[in-house]
Amino acid sequence: MKEKITIAIDGYSSCGKSTLARGLARSLNYIFIDSGAMYRGVTLYALENNLIADEQVQKTALIAALPSIALSFERSELSGHPELLLNGQNVEKEIRVPRVSNQVSKVAAIREVREKLVEEQRKLGRHGGIVMDGRDIGSVVFPDAELKLFITAALEVRVERRFTELTKKGIEISRNEVRENLQDRDHLDSTRAESPLIRAVDAILLDNSQLNREEQLEIAIKHAKKLISKASR
Ligand code: DC
Repeated sequence: MKEKITIAIDGYSSCGKSTLARGLARSLNYIFIDSGAMYRGVTLYALENNLIADEQVQKTALIAALPSIALSFERSELSGHPELLLNGQNVEKEIRVPRVSNQVSKVAAIREVREKLVEEQRKLGRHGGIVMDGRDIGSVVFPDAELKLFITAALEVRVERRFTELTKKGIEISRNEVRENLQDRDHLDSTRAESPLIRAVDAILLDNSQLNREEQLEIAIKHAKKLISKASR
């Protein structure tokens, strides 16, 4: 009897995937993994080691450096959420700044980077009981996930949410810069050759433009509970 299922949440940038994934994991007592944090961790490493110069990723050098990049998660005492460690150092704050957001899609388009991270993501989810959010979770990382959700929201709604989030953190940015970054990333993420962002055929589409966090979570919990009871029969 299988009691814990695998939940894959994919979608565009800043449409509330992580918030939903975190809420679902908390309600179900599952592990939550933000796979985007891992791509951001590799990007931060590249920036700190001069492997991105003049907006260009030094692809060969970054691929050669991949074995030196160790990523893991630790549960924060303060927030209760898993936070990213890069070579043993907590970088949860550093990976969220615009300098990283502006480069991460280029790094995420590199096949070797994806191979390394997908392998690690599968290891994290091998026992089920996980909610992972990203771009290729339902299509590539866990194609057999019992529940797949594809989240979307209108661009302007996403701009406002990300702008508020960054401003609250004290990061100075304009709405236009946020919009440009989201559009660039959506374009790069959906058109790249390696595991582009696509809605898996069996993913449930959830447009949360008109939903608040609680309403969105309620819908997702209903889907999850139905599948959990089916899986344990
Ligand atoms: O979810 P996020 O914005 O933190 O993701 C950062 C970037 O990483 C995003 O531009 C796309 C990429 N990404 C990816 O290609 N595959 C994933 N599973 C997760 C994120």
